[in-house]
Amino acid sequence: MARWTAADLPDLSGRTVLVTGAGSGIGLVAARELARVGARVTLGVRDVEKGRRAVAGMPGDFDVRHLDVADLRSVRSFAQAWTGPLDILVNNAGVMDVPAARTADGLDVQTATNYTGPFVLTNLLLPYLTDRVVSVTSQLHRRSKLDVDDFDWRARRYRPMKAYQDSKLALVLFSLELQRRLTASGSPVRSVLAHPGIATTSLAAHSSANLVNRFAFLLNDPEHGALPTLYAATQDLPGNAFVGPDGLGGIKGHPAVRRPAKVGLDRSRATALWQATAALTGVGEGAA
Ligand SMILES: NC(=O)c1ccc[n+]([C@@H]2O[C@H](COP(=O)([O-])OP(=O)(O)OC[C@H]3O[C@@H](n4cnc5c(N)ncnc54)[C@H](OP(=O)(O)O)[C@@H]3O)[C@@H](O)[C@H]2O)c1
Repeated sequence: MARWTAADLPDLSGRTVLVTGAGSGIGLVAARELARVGARVTLGVRDVEKGRRAVAGMPGDFDVRHLDVADLRSVRSFAQAWTGPLDILVNNAGVMDVPAARTADGLDVQTATNYTGPFVLTNLLLPYLTDRVVSVTSQLHRRSKLDVDDFDWRARRYRPMKAYQDSKLALVLFSLELQRRLTASGSPVRSVLAHPGIATTSLAAHSSANLVNRFAFLLNDPEHGALPTLYAATQDLPGNAFVGPDGLGGIKGHPAVRRPAKVGLDRSRATALWQATAALTGVGEGAA
């Protein structure tokens, strides 16, 4: 079977897509490709000028808006300003291995960026969603020992890479519980997961874990890193499908449907995490 590429994207004329963190890396490639096949693409970015510069000269219908996913005030005002159908939401924005810091809401910055903010954003945008939510996770979710009762790192000593792994497992569990709720309410909206393998973006640029540039030849470039996101956003997949590269260890290659870690399919943990996040943020209690 031919390997799936961005050339296989369907026509998305008339469809509206939001990609968070789309000013660089995988999100920018995904935004560019979705616009190329006709979607109206909103880039939710924390630096609007940088976002505008990133898409300047690219063909397509782009709308660059301010969105800091780690800041719940920004997330709320972004969602409040949204009007009309949103066909596809891509929760792409992320940071990795960043030092301990708290947001204006008192949340752990890394967890808020990668999980808690996207949780709130998705819940607030659900009334507008028509097709699906794609959450961009990582193979590193497999290493997580997520503490559901302390997912926001209040009781334990903060460890940057552990917090990254946990935030990416939290997204996997979020997708599972979101899909359960959507199905239970009879919604046609799907929640799906994508991971890029390891892609040579700026994600790890500041990190002690940055072996990415030295071993680039073993890894996905950002173009290939965006393929699982594009596949998850546009192909006919079952709810909670997990899409990643088809190469060895899911590190490199073309998109294929795979299985997340077993812990990512634990329904009671997913429900417990949802409830804990809803209690912390005040969003999501009755959603879907
Ligand atoms: N690259 C990999 O190997 C890899 C592997 C597994 C998973 N992922 C995931 O893939 C996604 C995209 O990462 P990438 O590799 O493309 O890295 P990247 O080039 O660093 O892109 C991350 C994007 O997220 C944005 N962002 C960060 N914090 C934000 C916030 N608070 N609000 C809004 N946007 C924010 C960044 O915006 P600024 O430009 O403002 O910083 C940047 O555009 C992330 O979720 C990452 O965890 C990547």
